[in-house]
Amino acid sequence: MSAPRPEPARIVVLVSGSGTNLQALIDAAGDPAYGARIVAVGADRPDIEGLRRAERHGIETFVERVADHPDRAAWDAALAAAVAAHEPDLVVLAGFMKLTGPAFLARYGGRTVNTHPALSPSFPGMRGPQDALEYGVKVTGATLFVVDAGVDTGPIVAQVAVPVEDDDDVETLHERIKTSERAMLVEWVGRLAREPFTIDGRRIRFQPKELS
Ligand code: GRF
Repeated sequence: MSAPRPEPARIVVLVSGSGTNLQALIDAAGDPAYGARIVAVGADRPDIEGLRRAERHGIETFVERVADHPDRAAWDAALAAAVAAHEPDLVVLAGFMKLTGPAFLARYGGRTVNTHPALSPSFPGMRGPQDALEYGVKVTGATLFVVDAGVDTGPIVAQVAVPVEDDDDVETLHERIKTSERAMLVEWVGRLAREPFTIDGRRIRFQPKELS
């Protein structure tokens, strides 16, 4: 008889848009061997495909709009509380177009990851694919990192390289990046869920198998 599987890690995913990265995680988490369960999906705006994807899969959703709070700090605290209600082990920002603030990081710093469609430290911010295209780089990609107080600056968990083609526009380039980004996200969120890791300065290390 094999040993019982440990409980899957509880994951809350935050989204702002179409949610194709979320969908990749939902699909992966359908396999018990993945080791993670998406317990809720939150957003900073209503009526987005990301939330509808969650609803179609029977996953709880919540929305915290900045406009419904007196200021950014109050929104940040409300977001942290809404996430905390689902008791996550790990929080994944998957196309979440807001910066989390001090209250959120006090609670979930070190166990919140974000994905960025560029190879950090190049091209941080909202226009990663466009800035890469305009700069004329031949290789760009996606970066999974642990969220800190900066814009796309946290310790890097994983990166994937993607070629820029001569006839790319922002849409074709971003779509090619997203294909690789989704695979990277699924692979590494799974590892973060299943394997003990430490963050030492900017370096993330997974515990060697024989010690875990
Ligand atoms: C991803 O490329 C993400 O890195 C960026 O926005 C995109 C979100 O795509 N910030 P989706 O909503 O997961 O389809």
